Amino acid sequence: MSLRLGDIAPNFKATTSLGEIDFYEFLGNSWGILFSHPADYTPVCTTELGRTAALKDEFEKRNVKVLALSVDPIDKHIGWIHDINETQQCNVDFPIIADDDRKVSELYDFIHPNASATATVRSLVIIGPDKSVKLIITYPASTGRNFFEVLRVVDSLQLTANYSVATPANWQKGDKVIIVPSISTEDAIKKFPKGVEVIKPYLRYTAQPNVD
Ligand code: BEZ
Repeated sequence: MSLRLGDIAPNFKATTSLGEIDFYEFLGNSWGILFSHPADYTPVCTTELGRTAALKDEFEKRNVKVLALSVDPIDKHIGWIHDINETQQCNVDFPIIADDDRKVSELYDFIHPNASATATVRSLVIIGPDKSVKLIITYPASTGRNFFEVLRVVDSLQLTANYSVATPANWQKGDKVIIVPSISTEDAIKKFPKGVEVIKPYLRYTAQPNVD
């Protein structure tokens, strides 16, 4: 099944390194990140899961629950976690799904047969508290993902969910933001007391509303 932005992320039950889970129960009212990697005991994947574990506090601060997946069996996950913790100086305490029957991979389109018939690609899905899909990215096996970029997208999603703004190219938390085109400049001046900078009628900035 192919999944698109705005779709409801399908629920599933799965065996993970932390036991059996129901995905929706695991998420509760939090944001969620479900991400696949090609295989256990591989170098790039080892660094990716290590980076994710090291950013635990950053995910928690943003109320994001993280869940990894590959088609490797549970005993392999358990053994590999020791290696990740040892080599990346971290503590992997988020669940890794053992999707040996590919049930979740097929539900989330994590296997791209022309890239690999058997392994999952590096896909990552961000899911909002309403269970809708907010972001989908897919990287090839040879390129590790940037988890600071994932946090940056979460910051943008959480900001733009609450204010009539969008974030410009290369935006970082604290930078000025763009006022969405559906708000008139007259209304924007009332709505954004920190000020409105008009570059063009369609290109207007204001300071990030949710920081002091
Ligand atoms: C890796 O994680 O290093 C990797 C996995 C599959 C193919 C290539 C690299």
